Amino acid sequence: MKLEDLIAKRLGVGTRGARALILGGRVAVAGAIAVDHRREISRFDEVLCEGAVVQAAMKRLHLMLHKPAGILSATSDPVHRTVLDLIDHPDKDTLHLAGRLDRSSTGLVLLTNDGRWSEALSDPATKVEKVYLVGTDRPIPMEAVERFAEGFWFATEGLTTRPAHLEILEECLARVTLVEGRYHQIKRMFHRIDGIRLTSLHRVRIGPHELPGDLAAGQWRVIAGID
Ligand code: URA
Repeated sequence: MKLEDLIAKRLGVGTRGARALILGGRVAVAGAIAVDHRREISRFDEVLCEGAVVQAAMKRLHLMLHKPAGILSATSDPVHRTVLDLIDHPDKDTLHLAGRLDRSSTGLVLLTNDGRWSEALSDPATKVEKVYLVGTDRPIPMEAVERFAEGFWFATEGLTTRPAHLEILEECLARVTLVEGRYHQIKRMFHRIDGIRLTSLHRVRIGPHELPGDLAAGQWRVIAGID
């Protein structure tokens, strides 16, 4: 919302009144006198007018969770338990997911109340790597490495997947690195290689955020130091 609209709405002074207050140097945003009456204000900005609070700043909150199998990547569901049911934090109802995992998949899930943070992590254009350990029901052929790198045509979405990095660690175990997150993407990609099915799918990293070895399935923690 624009600063002048916030002031107009909260103080009931109309747009012109709000503009006069701002241009008169009586409004402060995040501790500094505001000069641009049309600047965008988020709920994380504190806004004062003549020292009185017009909007208190909401605190940014970022969490990581080790999702167990069987839990839905959603914030509410009438049938299944969701990731939010595993979190016991006073502000948990402000959270949304920064990328999902299928119900059967396990591993790192990030939650936040900051839309810009989650968008930056999820947008394929920002090329944030998501790394998965994948178990398969039969040996992975070497040609799969090239096929993953070339991309697969997904007719439902009308797109070719971006180059993915496949490392075969054992006959039936691989590490996959993606920079996007299409519906059932890894399952669908493996299925194109001789109908391979997954026996496990575990996310270990999203960009700089690695699933800590001491965070057991079902546990969560606050990620500190992000603003
Ligand atoms: N790809 C999948 O198929 N499932 C997931 O949960 C994540 C990536």
